Amino acid sequence: MELFLDTANVNQIREGYELGVVGGVTTNPTIISREGREFIEVIKEITTIVDGPVMGEVISLEAEGMITEARELAALHKNMVVKIPMCLEGLKAVKVLSKEGIKTNVTLIFSATQAILAANAGAAYVSSFLGRSDDIGGDGLTVIEDIIDIFDANGIETKVVAASVRHLGHVIGCAKLGVDIVTVPYSIIGQMAKHPLTESGLKQFLEDWKKVPTK
Ligand code: G3P
Repeated sequence: MELFLDTANVNQIREGYELGVVGGVTTNPTIISREGREFIEVIKEITTIVDGPVMGEVISLEAEGMITEARELAALHKNMVVKIPMCLEGLKAVKVLSKEGIKTNVTLIFSATQAILAANAGAAYVSSFLGRSDDIGGDGLTVIEDIIDIFDANGIETKVVAASVRHLGHVIGCAKLGVDIVTVPYSIIGQMAKHPLTESGLKQFLEDWKKVPTK
């Protein structure tokens, strides 16, 4: 299971990359808006930091506009993946773009049937949203489990991205299901690394080391 960072903050992305545990970056219009920077400028900078997929999203609602935006994004760097919102116009755009060799990630997926449509249109990735499903009383992990089972049963190669990850239970649940990619806010990486017994254990080791005689 690969871990991606769900942020456009270049400082966090640099720090994540230094740890050696991050394989790519996902963004969306909300994430971009948090940085107060021009979209293309920040995406270009991310491609200089990250040696893996960098995902930027289109904002058009019609296929033609999505295709134009996607071509511009794809031209920025070989690692660019274009996020297309799940809707009928989006599917049309994905079909055209996949024929041109432009990789797409169909986003805002909340059901297995949406994922089937996206895969059939030619999406390289589908982003299934965990937290937002759970927020309305759904079960985000069950949706992802269904998508994985369906893709496996049908030999579909579209990769599954678990998005809208809110806590460590989501990360563990995804890992157990064999999700291809889990994209997380930077804070989740820190939470994954921490354990109170690791901290107290290290403190004790360093205390005890003081009792070891020196020459
Ligand atoms: O990238 C899309 C997704 O990860 C957004 O997460 O927390 O806004 O539901 P969230």
